[in-house]
Amino acid sequence: MNTALVINKLVVVGIGLIGGSLAAACKKRGVCSEVIGVARRAEVCERAVANGVVDRATTQISELAGELGEGDVVFIAVPTLTVKKVLAEIKSCLSPAVTITDGASVKGSVRDDVVAIYGGEPSQVVLGHPIAGSEKSGVDAADPELYVDHRIILTPLKGNGVNHIERVTKMWQAVQAEVLEMDVDEHDAVLASTSHLPHAIAFSLVDTLAHDHQNENIFRYAAGGFRDFTRIASSDATMWRDIMLSNKPAVLSAIDMFVANLTRLRGMIEAEDATNITGVFTRAKAARDRFTNMLSHQAYSKTMQENAHSHIVYKVAPGGTVQGTIRVPGDKSISHRSIMLGSLAEGVTHVEGFLEGEDALATLQAFRDMGVVIEGPEDGRVTVHGVGLHGLQAPSGPLYVGNSGTSMRLLAGILAGQKFESELTGDESLTKRPMNRVALPLAEMGASIATANEGRPPLKIHGGAALKGINYDMPMASAQVKSCLLLAGLYAEGKTSVTEPAPTRDHTERMLRGFGYDVQRTGDTITVESGGKLTATDIDIPADISSATFFLVAAAITPGSDITLTHVGINPTRIGVINILNLMGANIELSNEREVGGEPVADIRLRYAPLKGIEVPESQVPLAIDEFPALMVAAACAEGTTVITGAEELRVKETDRIQAMIDGLTTLGIKCHATEDGAIIEGGQLGGGEVESFHDHRIAMSFTIAALRASGEITVNNCANVSTSFPNFTQLAKQVGISLEVIRS
Ligand code: S3P
Repeated sequence: MNTALVINKLVVVGIGLIGGSLAAACKKRGVCSEVIGVARRAEVCERAVANGVVDRATTQISELAGELGEGDVVFIAVPTLTVKKVLAEIKSCLSPAVTITDGASVKGSVRDDVVAIYGGEPSQVVLGHPIAGSEKSGVDAADPELYVDHRIILTPLKGNGVNHIERVTKMWQAVQAEVLEMDVDEHDAVLASTSHLPHAIAFSLVDTLAHDHQNENIFRYAAGGFRDFTRIASSDATMWRDIMLSNKPAVLSAIDMFVANLTRLRGMIEAEDATNITGVFTRAKAARDRFTNMLSHQAYSKTMQENAHSHIVYKVAPGGTVQGTIRVPGDKSISHRSIMLGSLAEGVTHVEGFLEGEDALATLQAFRDMGVVIEGPEDGRVTVHGVGLHGLQAPSGPLYVGNSGTSMRLLAGILAGQKFESELTGDESLTKRPMNRVALPLAEMGASIATANEGRPPLKIHGGAALKGINYDMPMASAQVKSCLLLAGLYAEGKTSVTEPAPTRDHTERMLRGFGYDVQRTGDTITVESGGKLTATDIDIPADISSATFFLVAAAITPGSDITLTHVGINPTRIGVINILNLMGANIELSNEREVGGEPVADIRLRYAPLKGIEVPESQVPLAIDEFPALMVAAACAEGTTVITGAEELRVKETDRIQAMIDGLTTLGIKCHATEDGAIIEGGQLGGGEVESFHDHRIAMSFTIAALRASGEITVNNCANVSTSFPNFTQLAKQVGISLEVIRS
């Protein structure tokens, strides 16, 4: 065999769309020395040769007996129920050294045929299924590009030789397909739902309409929806008949499941049950959107869709000034809570200004997975059809919350109070974050929660435990822990109190009150009592001060800057950044102060004034906890030394934010070092360089704005997670004057 070739000769038995396309693809790419077609009808053989799909063709496979051996591959691409006949013929005339594979859509019946003919699982027959096709059929439909970027599922049998499996794998890879392996039965069950059921429905639907003469016009006036939905009813009828029959048990159970669901939908339409119809449609839409994203390894939001497969790097040119009036997206903390409390309320909650970032969308999806009907988000508007405190349903699988610590910790409190079992999982970064801070006090309340090693996610929550209220002295200033326990308190017998060592954001308490639930505060202790209910309300979410921070600091470090951020939440538990920047000498003006839905908001204007280094008061740390990465950039541009203490919580955020910032600032030429609970930074001249964000959104955005004062270009690695909190960051950054280039690879 010529070593430059992937295989020697390729024989394709059945020169239709599937076989013909492999033949044409191999020919075009020089994968094999010769492509030989085998077809029952001489006319097909002639066409295949004339079209250039094969080099030569025959109607008798036995004619090839003397010339095939090691290195040659036979691909059987005939309807499933004909495979047995072809296999019998091959066995009787071809050498056992030849590699044989197939393309049938059902593998169980073909495996049975192989075993029946060979009396066991032979080394040479490697079963497979290309997940590609089209409604077209026949030799004229052969397409050399059909398999590019498509998946081929191989379902090797125990007796298969490694050399044969490898040969088939390499052949498919050479035509640019991705090869996966699966067990035969798993393959048939998966395909029954994802392929065989939709084909059965499409054939049946078109047949139903075609038989009803009154519906003649449907075909004449068919709109895009009908055309898209029924495209696959033009597929090869014999092939699909064989598929249905050879995968009968799995296809029947898929059809039963569908009929039951369709009957339920019929019932909802009959009863004019608008909410539940909306539920079916919004869940389906979200699942379809997510599915589209999943196919390209993406998450929920549109921005993440655009980030398909990509490693995102920001290249930021040095210099510039920051000018303009902008509104940053909605507050992340409030967005999470609007979905949570809206879902647990009685009635319909309308939300405006919802942050369509990955983290808040993860919370939204989790509640959809628990049966809550949620419409949107669309331009920040979300409608939540509350199910009441006891109306959540068991999710069908683990609740995946991506990068979002807030989702996981707050949900843990709610789930601890449910009757059903649940599991919370997240991405790689979240899987490293501490969850004992919620799991231990919840256990004290009577919840049964299992974590992975050292209190890391996933969290497995065994429902049905009777919770009882506790008085909890929080060892760290954490709004997430406080909120988790207060939410669990809604389900716990008696009163639940949390005492905080320092004030932390109080959005949960404010919003609970907004939903009509009584929350008491005495000194540093917050108390809720079970037995109440949440009543739906409307929520207008202010712009996120944590996102606004990047532009406040951008203007604060750049001479000539003047920026206004509108409608920003200035809740007293969140304004540490304003207080700290003021102490550093920034020129900040608040105007248009008002209250929106229980939260204070204002427009914030910042005009450049030189900054000086300070000792950051520890009392401000919890009030600016998410703003330190940006504040450390401000410190690097200030005159003198800035000392941060009491901020050890920064080490357990999306990454160790103290170390990540010190590493990056050091790379950029700033004298600084990390301490156990903070950092010491001497102001100086930022240089250019390449810094790592460690997939942390706030680290990535902080180094982006640093370029305004740098002497050279700054490259920031791994910026995809900016979408978790600030999906349109790069657009706004460019709009206000930052020279930023986004590079996807
Ligand atoms: C949040 C609380 C803070 C913050 C996080 C959001 C919240 O975390 O860092 O981004 O929404 O409650 P801790 O409470 O753990 O400090």
